[in-house]
Amino acid sequence: MPHIIIEKLEKPTLPARYSGFEFEFISEGDNGVVGVQTESFRFLLEFFQHKKGVLVKPDKTTRVPHLNVNKLALQALADLTQSNIVQSNIETLKQQREYKNLVSREALNKKIAALDYQEIWLEIGFGSGRHILHNSHNNPEVLHIGIEVHRPSTEQLLKQCEIHNISNILVLLDDARVILETLPADALSKIFVHFPVPWDDSPTKRIFSSNFIQEASFVLKQKGTLELRTDSPNYYTFVRSLYDAMNKFAITIRKNGDLPVVSKYETRWRKQEKDIYDIIYYNDEVGGKEQEEFDFSFPTCNDFSKAIAQFTDKGYRDNQFLVKFLKTFQIAKNIRVHKLVMGKLAFPQAIYILEDNEQISYYPKLPFFAKENYLAHKKIVESLQNGK
Ligand SMILES: C[S@@+](CC[C@H](N)C(=O)[O-])C[C@H]1O[C@@H](n2cnc3c(N)ncnc32)[C@H](O)[C@@H]1O
Repeated sequence: MPHIIIEKLEKPTLPARYSGFEFEFISEGDNGVVGVQTESFRFLLEFFQHKKGVLVKPDKTTRVPHLNVNKLALQALADLTQSNIVQSNIETLKQQREYKNLVSREALNKKIAALDYQEIWLEIGFGSGRHILHNSHNNPEVLHIGIEVHRPSTEQLLKQCEIHNISNILVLLDDARVILETLPADALSKIFVHFPVPWDDSPTKRIFSSNFIQEASFVLKQKGTLELRTDSPNYYTFVRSLYDAMNKFAITIRKNGDLPVVSKYETRWRKQEKDIYDIIYYNDEVGGKEQEEFDFSFPTCNDFSKAIAQFTDKGYRDNQFLVKFLKTFQIAKNIRVHKLVMGKLAFPQAIYILEDNEQISYYPKLPFFAKENYLAHKKIVESLQNGK
């Protein structure tokens, strides 16, 4: 993570433009945030007291994926405030690569709609990418979407796509459990989950859950398949019991079946003569979910701090979603930035809300368009309206 330690942070008068960055605001106090904007990005830098001075680094929640933008913003802030840098790791600015097969979660659905393929297949946790590359080569009429949380694996696949000039793969560096429900209904013909991490000690981190199966049914076409391949007898039993509990009986089970391509993991397990299990679920649901319209705007509010009091400390949680305000940064009289988490219980989204007098808005962008985020938003709006 790029960072600088400066001797002292002399707070500048903001907003101010410097070196291609617009510094929008800075919070009061010794530990806080600086709002930064460029033509393409809006994000926060955080500053903390440190034994050597003041540590400044990109805020994790709003950080942009381009290392150079973060480094240049830190340098620009140091220059703007005429600060003496006592320690930093921003000296080397690497040439950043733009990958044409990489797509963000926000852009995915538009991209899918703009492309014209006969089918869409999704691979979750593609690892080294052998299986998705094999599928893309052998099924050129299909759009292959790969979602992976591990950055080096993602870059490895993106480089392969460039080397071989592959256009029918889209890659997301993201958590598949969050993305699935946002895909269009009845859109996919196949979903592959091969050798997911078994998480025997923390089952809530597993990709499979009853919620995941339900969401997969929504996004799969009728008779579309959700394929699990695992070497873990525990994971196999767990997924079987999920299907049983959900009365989903259209499944096929195989032991030690062969696939046309063998992944690195599979090679390792085969050497150890471990059994390999497949559970293939055939979607039996007709029609998908209604595509919902999410309105993430707020009404004006003249006492926001009072309205959100019920969401501080332990926050609010029911059996579907949560809202918890974590921190407030005072920017000026009647201007504050609030940090919160909202949405899914297992993996809520961290985000900020900007309170500028009576105007309330999400910062730096709207929450991800997911049902649980919208329920959480409506809960906050309800509290604002009750306080009027
Ligand atoms: C054991 S590896 C298997 C890789 C590959 N499927 C194979 O068969 O060789 C599991 C992969 O799933 C990825 N992964 C774990 N949780 C994920 C999630 N929630 N969303 C997307 N990918 C995930 C991991 O980063 C890892 O690359």
